[in-house]
Amino acid sequence: MRGIALFGKVHILDTTLRDGEQTPGVSLNLEEKLDIARHLDALGVDVIEAGSVVTSEGERGAMKAVAAEGLRAEICSYVRARTEDVDLALECDLDSVHLVVPVSDLHIRSKLRSDRDSVMRSAVEVTEYARAHGLVVELSGEDASRADEPFLRSIYLAGIDAGAERLCYCDTVGVLVPEKAFEVFSRLSDLPAPVSVHCHDDFGMATANTVSALRGGAAMAHVTVNGIGERGGNTSLEEVVMTLQSLYGIKTEIRSGDLYAISRLVSRLTGIPVAPNKAIVGENAFTHEAGIHVHGLIADTATYEPIHPETVGRKRRIVLGKHAGRSSVELALRELGIECEKRELAEILSRVKELGDKGKRVTDADLQTIAEIVLSIQKEPKVKLEEFTVVCGNRATPTASVKIAVNGTEMLEAGTGVGPVDAAINAIRRAISGVRDVRLEEYHVDAITGGTSALVEVWVTMAMGDRSITARGAGADIIMASVEAVLEGINRLMQLEEDG
Ligand code: KIV
Ligand code: ZN
Repeated sequence: MRGIALFGKVHILDTTLRDGEQTPGVSLNLEEKLDIARHLDALGVDVIEAGSVVTSEGERGAMKAVAAEGLRAEICSYVRARTEDVDLALECDLDSVHLVVPVSDLHIRSKLRSDRDSVMRSAVEVTEYARAHGLVVELSGEDASRADEPFLRSIYLAGIDAGAERLCYCDTVGVLVPEKAFEVFSRLSDLPAPVSVHCHDDFGMATANTVSALRGGAAMAHVTVNGIGERGGNTSLEEVVMTLQSLYGIKTEIRSGDLYAISRLVSRLTGIPVAPNKAIVGENAFTHEAGIHVHGLIADTATYEPIHPETVGRKRRIVLGKHAGRSSVELALRELGIECEKRELAEILSRVKELGDKGKRVTDADLQTIAEIVLSIQKEPKVKLEEFTVVCGNRATPTASVKIAVNGTEMLEAGTGVGPVDAAINAIRRAISGVRDVRLEEYHVDAITGGTSALVEVWVTMAMGDRSITARGAGADIIMASVEAVLEGINRLMQLEEDG
């Protein structure tokens, strides 16, 4: 792997299942770890750090299961410089160990209450032990960015002599800067073993530092999906891969088209939401509202998109609000199959901006309603709610019953769910299922005011076939607001279908 960096293949070690799982509140079970590991393998990462064998019995069970999957990627565990840790890694049938020793005097003295010689001795001893038992060793210097470089080098050299195949430089508290990362890795690149870079994002520099280290000669980047990890998190997998690919013209083995899917998976299983403005995988990364931008996008998407959304498995989204312009409204109307004159378009735009000025995001259903009013083509809703009941409590499975009229024909159905909202939506979907196959793709709720009587706004994306539409419901009752949003979405989808 050595010395290839920007001129050859950059290797990726994913530590979502170890450092990523150290995010406060995250604990993945065996099935979840396996699911993520399979997806990481299919994505093309070289090494999966599946956890830390010292953590618990449950963790070891999960790591054993990942190792038994027969994945293409190397399966690795974090271990301390202790032979008993290596024994646990052997019990789990892993390929390699990420053997971590503190290397800064701060860590050696304050955390370990030890000295440089003892750290050196245990690093060598445990490396020899792991190698003698057939494990690949990546010897890692914790807090390397605050360590004395000659000492760091001496421990790396001793580790190589003891059999370590790879080394790792950890910027444990994210204090590295890109210039230093480049210089340090240029100096370390004369070592007779490849060096990985492991960064944290305390100052928002993890991706820049990782890329600079790779430019300096690092052979492998340690990353996590969505950049999850303790404090500010780790270097984000998707940012490094896309920066290398799009800004430096460097290919990795990562299938970039699967980046969004794995981001969603990890967010769902860890319960850690992705910030809307997060690079590459955030909700807004390929969403446009400003009229001037949409005007440019229509001419050439490169005007306001550095990469095609499809490159990372995403789709472009145009949303309407107070920044909307003629082009964006025209484009959105066209998507809804609505044609209008210039004068009517101006009126629709002005009403969209009016709604946007009130702080509202304008949904497809809102736009359709506005257009119908302006064009005087209002239509009767196809689906009407006639009766609705929901029951829930500490000893009852949340259950809802619904009577709706679809084009005048009554349908009566019941549904259960994890909560009353879920039960209500399931009941509606069951009632409508004999007529149309409607899916709920997204559900989002915002409290507009505070307190237990807060006004809530519910946003949904409903889909039928390959068509999807956004709709909204609002009120003091979250269940009724959800029902309203779902029915509005269904009505609008059926309207679109009828209009062809
Ligand atoms: O950031 C760090 O230093 C680490 C080590 C424990 C490898 O995650
Ligand atoms: Zn770390």
